[in-house]
Amino acid sequence: MGIMVATRPVLTLTGRVINNVVSFIVFCFLDLFDVILCIVYKVVDFLIEAEWKPCYCSSAKEAIMRIATFLLSEPGESKVVCLRSNKLQLDDVSETLYSRPSLVSEVSKSTLKELKRLKVEGTTSRSSHSERIKNGTLRSTFTINSTIIEMLQGKIGGQQSHPIPRWSDCHCSTCTSWISSCKETLYVRVEGPKGNKAREDVLFIHGFISSSAFWTETLFPNFSGATNSSYRLMAVDLLGFGRSPKPTDSLYTLREHIEMIERSVLNPYKVKSFHMVAHSLGCILALAIAVKHPGAVKSLTLIAPPYFPVPKGEQANQYVLRKVAPRRVWPLIAFGASIACWYEHISRTICLLICKNHRFWEWLAKIVTRNRMRTFMLDGFCCHTHNAAWHTLHNIICGSAGKIDEYLDAVRDQLTCQVTIFHGKDDELVSLHCSYDIRKRIPRADVMVIDKKDHITIVVGRQKTFARELEQIWKYSSR
Ligand SMILES: *[C@@H]1O[C@H](CO)[C@@H](O)[C@H](O)[C@H]1NC(C)=O
Ligand SMILES: *[C@@H]1O[C@H](CO)[C@@H](O)[C@H](O)[C@H]1NC(C)=O
Ligand SMILES: *[C@@H]1O[C@H](CO)[C@@H](O)[C@H](O)[C@H]1NC(C)=O
Ligand SMILES: *[C@@H]1O[C@H](CO)[C@@H](O)[C@H](O)[C@H]1NC(C)=O
Repeated sequence: MGIMVATRPVLTLTGRVINNVVSFIVFCFLDLFDVILCIVYKVVDFLIEAEWKPCYCSSAKEAIMRIATFLLSEPGESKVVCLRSNKLQLDDVSETLYSRPSLVSEVSKSTLKELKRLKVEGTTSRSSHSERIKNGTLRSTFTINSTIIEMLQGKIGGQQSHPIPRWSDCHCSTCTSWISSCKETLYVRVEGPKGNKAREDVLFIHGFISSSAFWTETLFPNFSGATNSSYRLMAVDLLGFGRSPKPTDSLYTLREHIEMIERSVLNPYKVKSFHMVAHSLGCILALAIAVKHPGAVKSLTLIAPPYFPVPKGEQANQYVLRKVAPRRVWPLIAFGASIACWYEHISRTICLLICKNHRFWEWLAKIVTRNRMRTFMLDGFCCHTHNAAWHTLHNIICGSAGKIDEYLDAVRDQLTCQVTIFHGKDDELVSLHCSYDIRKRIPRADVMVIDKKDHITIVVGRQKTFARELEQIWKYSSR
């Protein structure tokens, strides 16, 4: 026993060292692999779609042009971009999309200079005088030659819209149903009493790579008859996920996500006041909606919210990126998150294998489990495009880093609704600290820590209990 106790810290330390060493090697390899894939995709895109497609790694210049073109092509005044003389400020676009400095990536990048040079040669150079800091990182404020601004404003040389869906995205009827329907709104699943009998509304917002099925297949069947007859339950598929539109030219910014929810749920269903239930990434959207409609929110229930308070002096976007995607191979879920955040082309490949072929995987799952497994999770995880997942991840999780404190303060000061946070004790993706840190900013928030539950099983598998808990929260906050 004594030896066991003594060796434990040593084992932990050894484990950590091994994790670090293996992670370093694996991520060096992945850095290289992503660059190779970048070239491969350039060629394949060109062969199939007859056009070079810009990506975020090829050159910062190109990425900025792409972002700027998109922002300035928005109808009406754009809130995202502030054009001050010749400064183009990118408010809603996370810097982590095009710049992810890390020791490992810098080291392996320098060894890849030759490859890079090869690749850059192939791209046309439009001149934008972006401000490059000596050590290679880019600021969020770019100085752009006034000629370029005029060009952007005149939409000269604007980007051709990409074919929909792109060759690497799924063409199945579920994933493309939005193309044929002419209304440009999100898919909303509404359950409730017929007619206008519902006394209260509840809005459900799912997390990253998920869909409304996360709620409708688990929680909804477990609500009581009383709830069914007096609440209108509305679960939305976020922009780019599930059955919702997946535009190829969108940047999936916080503003776009929020406006789509307003346009698809709050306005058409004439929702005056509502309860909100959100999971993971959806919590950031829920907070943003709550702050935008402070008088309308009756209760706010957050499940595993990814909140990382940024220490003073840290670059907010980059800090959150490193928290969410630590470039470690263990735990596995952190490894997955690191790949999703750091590698545009590797994650596109994974999307190509899984999302484009999700019918096949569902079929296989049915065979293997002899039809006993319910495949709603697969459905939810697979119905998105790489473009949607990549931008949503960066622009919502990392991009909101600088604003989230403001939102929490507004919820504390301007809203009176009850705030309840549920968090699984074994959550390896979003640690329990996140919820405690929210309570530090909103002292009235209740944090419910659930033993032996992780990021997903906090809802899936305990839906019956959770349905009762929600009913209590709604009942209590309606009084
Ligand atoms: C880049 O260099 C500047 C000084 O040239 C320094 O202040 C800054 O911290 C550096 N940034 C990074 C990410 O190394
Ligand atoms: C902007 O760039 C163009 C070439 O791309 C150049 O002809 C022009 O003089 C530049 N304008 C300014 C104000 O620097
Ligand atoms: C709760 O939902 C599950 C499906 O997720 C279902 O199997 C179960 O029967 C439901 N319980 C009740 C009481 O409806
Ligand atoms: C409540 O409605 C859901 C469908 O949203 C249904 O599955 C469930 O059985 C209903 N509950 C009761 C008690 O009728």
